[in-house]
Amino acid sequence: MNIQSLLSEKVSQALIAAGASADSEAQVRQSAKAQFGDYQANGVMSVAKKLGMPPRQLAEKVVELLDLNGIANKVEIAGPGFINIFLDPAFVGAHVDSALNDEKLGITPVEPQTIVIDYSAPNVAKEMHVGHIRSTIIGDAAVRTNEFLGHKVIRANHVGDWGTQFGMLIAYLEKVQNENAGDMNLADLEEFYRAAKKNYDEDEAFAERARGYVVKLQGGDEYCLQMWRKLVDVTMKQNQLTYNRLNVTLTEDDVMGESLYNNMLPGIVSDLQAKGLAVDSEGAVVVYLDEYKNKDGDPMGVIIRKKDGGYLYTTTDIACAKYRYETLGADRVLYYIDSRQHQHLMQAWTIARKAGYVPDSVALEHHMFGMMLGKDGKPFKTRSGGTVKLSDLLDEAIDRARKLITEKNPEMKDAAELEKLVNAVGIGAIKYADLSKSRTTDYVFDWDNMLAFEGNTAPYMQYAYTRVASIFKRAEIDVNSLTQPVVLSEEREAALATRLLQFEEVLTVVAREGTPHTMCAYLYDVAGLFSSFYEHCPILNAEDETSRNSRLKLALLTQRTLKTGLDTLGIETVERM
Ligand code: ARG
Repeated sequence: MNIQSLLSEKVSQALIAAGASADSEAQVRQSAKAQFGDYQANGVMSVAKKLGMPPRQLAEKVVELLDLNGIANKVEIAGPGFINIFLDPAFVGAHVDSALNDEKLGITPVEPQTIVIDYSAPNVAKEMHVGHIRSTIIGDAAVRTNEFLGHKVIRANHVGDWGTQFGMLIAYLEKVQNENAGDMNLADLEEFYRAAKKNYDEDEAFAERARGYVVKLQGGDEYCLQMWRKLVDVTMKQNQLTYNRLNVTLTEDDVMGESLYNNMLPGIVSDLQAKGLAVDSEGAVVVYLDEYKNKDGDPMGVIIRKKDGGYLYTTTDIACAKYRYETLGADRVLYYIDSRQHQHLMQAWTIARKAGYVPDSVALEHHMFGMMLGKDGKPFKTRSGGTVKLSDLLDEAIDRARKLITEKNPEMKDAAELEKLVNAVGIGAIKYADLSKSRTTDYVFDWDNMLAFEGNTAPYMQYAYTRVASIFKRAEIDVNSLTQPVVLSEEREAALATRLLQFEEVLTVVAREGTPHTMCAYLYDVAGLFSSFYEHCPILNAEDETSRNSRLKLALLTQRTLKTGLDTLGIETVERM
């Protein structure tokens, strides 16, 4: 049920009947304050201006023509021409019932789109670090949300698995294997990469070998490919452990690394040359873009092939956009990459569009995010200034959660249950802290805030969920016994019920904008409305059977909405904490 769409349609019809053009927007929004009703239509003012009509007069006409029978029980005009709509509790109650009768909580089936989501994208022979955490967590929430709505989602893990660094990595892997008689220790990828680099910088014979391997690898040499594959496999196995720990839905099947686009690159370059988009410049191939100016105010040159014949990160992203449209059949492609790569993406896409590789009907969207900062406001680093490894961060989260939970809940004895809880809270806290902030800005990583039981945090939301769930358990209520329809008689019941029916509106926003924080804010709000309802409206001791039944149903829909909502975020719930 999408009340906002329904009302938009109704108000638009009335606007058109009142003389507005067919494309007039009703501008229906959820009202910010109860006194303005549940929804507000704000479109009258701009339409009145176009029609040269006093807005209040138009508003009156619209209200007269507006047919909200069975939906609203009061419609008011406020201020210069706002239309305030008060939903009919009977309408709200009936839709609570239909939401409960549906596994997907009554959400409207979508016209399914194919949506490719580019996220996580760690680099081979490097440990995943906190810079990849935001992409992984936010991207996975976008995946889950779009999938829940019914879209076909293709996860694309654009792993950095190609480039000149592989010569040095292969040469080093060879060295390690020789020294350890085949025993390869890649456990510490960061250390492996550093050692490879050191050998490259300090040992001329090694460097020579490394350069040779780059050429051989690019030429498809079997030995080099085999070594390369080993590096990719070991890295991705390690990353997979992190994905599993993080409750992220990526699998090894979702890897679509840079190397996938390799054999497209020569064709792309010659095609761009043939189309007159790319030109030779001092031996390199360059696309000059009028849309972007360099320091001197001249069109910016984007290199797509280097003098030595090598291709670039941008060339790969041009090919990749083409592939996602042409081969994967994408209707939309969402990229979860930090904001520093914005210009890179814009350049790659501008070129792809000009070349006709991706039509305008297919959206390429950069859902960028800011940096993770330490409490000092500087980029998040270890005490000694190094990059924080994701796996270390997760270990610490678990340790802290264990301490917190055993302190709060010393009587929890079942070891398996305790582990599950510790995991859900620890990992949930890290993820939720990231998801609940607007993604476009930097955010401060703060253990105390994210593990607090108050405020918009994972532990609070998880606890709120167990509280609702416990009502049914304590009273041993069989939810199938709740057969009477919902009747809303108290204001707090109606407020909670209306908010619960707005679930789909929030899902739609998250799916469109890639903003999981709107889901977090919504669920937090639902938890708050539930608390206030629970405090004022006795459930099990309700004054009559109708109220008891209705309130139990409201609690049940709250429970399901919290669980489903947290699930779209990739946050686990537990039944007890
Ligand atoms: N591997 C890159 C990095 O670590 C991110 C890749 C993002 N995706 C893309 N299509 N460029 O910075």
